[in-house]
Amino acid sequence: MDRIKPELRILEGPAAVAAAAAEEFRARVFAAYRRENFFACALSGGTTPQLMFRELARRAGESPIPAGFWNHIHLFWGDERDVPPDNPSSNYRAAREALLETIEIPACNIHRIMPERGGAVKAAEEYETELKTFFSLSKGGIPRFDLVFLGMGEDGHTASIFPASAALNENVRLVSAPWVAKLNAFRITLTPPAINNAACIIFLVTGAEKAGAVQQVLEGSYMPEQLPAQIVNPKSGKLIWLLDRAAASQISKDAELL
Ligand code: 6PG
Repeated sequence: MDRIKPELRILEGPAAVAAAAAEEFRARVFAAYRRENFFACALSGGTTPQLMFRELARRAGESPIPAGFWNHIHLFWGDERDVPPDNPSSNYRAAREALLETIEIPACNIHRIMPERGGAVKAAEEYETELKTFFSLSKGGIPRFDLVFLGMGEDGHTASIFPASAALNENVRLVSAPWVAKLNAFRITLTPPAINNAACIIFLVTGAEKAGAVQQVLEGSYMPEQLPAQIVNPKSGKLIWLLDRAAASQISKDAELL
């Protein structure tokens, strides 16, 4: 299995990780803007990206944003919980409150996953259709996101691809709705093909509680069934890990990553 060597950036703490992620986002958005291209970004869920969302919101209000800047940006989600959009655990709600409510992004540029319409399986099917439409994909085509943000759990899961998940071996569908036994819940998630076709994938991982999984994912044997974050291996894109010192504390100094 040829695995891309990630770019590893170890920063002081969560705030520095958020700032680095926001800077990477803006740099890539401006590059697309100069090319007069749209910019398609999949946001991650959980708590880690909250600081980044707030940093993006702060910067959006601070520096001169060219008129129509946000018209070029289309936001998607890497995964979603099987809850309505106003539920406290909704990844969409978290991004809405921390970012979307403070920027002038057209509503049609927000592409959220909609479990409330008919449950997780239907939401996954509809989201797949949305991706195929937005990216003008022919049959079998795979979206190429400009940027996919990912987090990682202490068990090495990423997006909503958990250990031993059927989603790990999904090589046809772009979106799936795995049952997550440990959560006793369905999730909706981009699948490895949809994630790995991105131009850039950025992991944001902070906190000492993640250090063990970070070390195993980056330096341990390749076993994605146990460490799903290892399935992330962009075919022709960049892979960046933004870690704080606590999350990176078990990486051996001279380890050959991967
Ligand atoms: C989710 C995620 C998930 C998350 C990790 C880390 O919906 O929860 O997408 O993959 O990124 O569980 O979560 P924290 O940032 O809360 O530690």
